[in-house]
Amino acid sequence: MKPIRLGINIDHVATVRQARRASEPDPITAALLAEMGGADLITCHLREDRRHIQDRDLKILREVVQTKLNMEMAATEKMIDIALAIRPDWVCIVPESREEVTTEGGLDLRKSKHSVETAINTLQDVDINVSLFIDPDINTVKTAVKMRAKAVEIHTGKYANARTDHELNIERDRVESACKMAERVGLGVHAGHGLTYHNVKPIVAIPEIAELNIGHSVIARAIMVGMERAVREMADFIKK
Ligand code: PXP
Repeated sequence: MKPIRLGINIDHVATVRQARRASEPDPITAALLAEMGGADLITCHLREDRRHIQDRDLKILREVVQTKLNMEMAATEKMIDIALAIRPDWVCIVPESREEVTTEGGLDLRKSKHSVETAINTLQDVDINVSLFIDPDINTVKTAVKMRAKAVEIHTGKYANARTDHELNIERDRVESACKMAERVGLGVHAGHGLTYHNVKPIVAIPEIAELNIGHSVIARAIMVGMERAVREMADFIKK
């Protein structure tokens, strides 16, 4: 089995910083530590409302990331211009709506055909690889290859949210079928959303998957495994 690349999504570090409009925690530091921990790429989402990652973050990430930089973005003219200026290694096109807490579903490639094709053509013309974040659906994979994207990122959110074993198996099979089709038609096979230390194993077992992008669960664990030490350091500092 070929090794799976691990992309770490650092958006939540920026979310904590933006809660205070402060300068810490800095997602740049988090990205460098993630690379030291074995991340194969750093993923971040520049949202139109700038609720977490800022333009400044993306600029500095481009300078300091030693692995690969994967920028998630909506297929808008403004975002395309930013990607052209920053030159990430990969752009992952995602649907975006202002009210959502996180990216809720995959792209509707029929509805957004024109904007997604414009993004693919413009970015790939200058050697920025484009992946499309899509639901685990075979027909959508076929559409993605027709649009000449380099890869698809299969949305694992429904799998992650499954409540029963039956539902879980159905959703995992959907992810697997979409991955198989993506590989068969020559697309890079990425997956992500909602993956955790508990639910990732059956996804890792899908041999076609080349890359997983994981954010929430890793950042959540980072807070917890660092909590005791952080408190001890402050307690020592004020008591000694
Ligand atoms: N992949 C894409 C395209 C995403 O939008 C996200 C969430 O920003 C992730 C992966 C990571 O999802 P999670 O934070 O649930 O691990």
